[in-house]
Amino acid sequence: MTQNTCFITWYGHAAFRVEAAGYAWLFDPFIQGNPKCPVSLEQLPPADVVLVSHGHSDHLGDAIELASRWNALLVANVEIAEYCHSRGVTHTLGLQPGGSACTEFGQVRCVTAIHGSPLPGGRYGGVAVGFVIHAGDLILYHAGDTALTQDMTQLKRLGIHAAMLPCGDRFTMGLEDCARATTLIAPRVLIPMHYNTWNVIEQPIHTLHALLHREWLGAGREEHRLPQIVEWTPGKRNALDIY
Ligand code: NI
Ligand code: MN
Repeated sequence: MTQNTCFITWYGHAAFRVEAAGYAWLFDPFIQGNPKCPVSLEQLPPADVVLVSHGHSDHLGDAIELASRWNALLVANVEIAEYCHSRGVTHTLGLQPGGSACTEFGQVRCVTAIHGSPLPGGRYGGVAVGFVIHAGDLILYHAGDTALTQDMTQLKRLGIHAAMLPCGDRFTMGLEDCARATTLIAPRVLIPMHYNTWNVIEQPIHTLHALLHREWLGAGREEHRLPQIVEWTPGKRNALDIY
């Protein structure tokens, strides 16, 4: 294991725990009620930062409970950060698309997503967002729920190592648009998410490689730079080399 190794655990859907540069980041912690998540709230290792991409319950999930319990920094759009603060989360960081902030754990940048974001009870939850974190040498993009957007071409210059992109269709982009998005962003590693959680977003994920290969070469990109697609078992802690 080199210093440039990070660890990523997928809990199914859009929930990930990323360990990099000595800190842990937990994205969209939909734990209770997530049919693919093999751990309980109590079994979940603590994180320093909890990030929420939008207000839907399969993303806000257990964020308030966990961030309060761990005294973690909760990062979300300003509306969701204020909502979580009003519900007892002490440390919150509210961002809006285009904005970034340096924290003691690393830098976090808030980027656009095309999706809704109502909070429980119909409270206004601002706009859905994605995040790009810079944690040590790792530059990681979690797209949240989104369509394919031309905005993604802007992410290429950030030099993203790992991109977590939804591909379940119906509520987000599907496999073909996920392949197009990956080609626009050009990460080293694609981590597909938000598929097969329920029947309505079931996808033949094994076809993604061929779709990506076609899009990548069609865009005139070099074959040896084709992003690697990782498929992880929920709950398993995976090492990922940063290169
Ligand atoms: Ni959603
Ligand atoms: Mn969702």
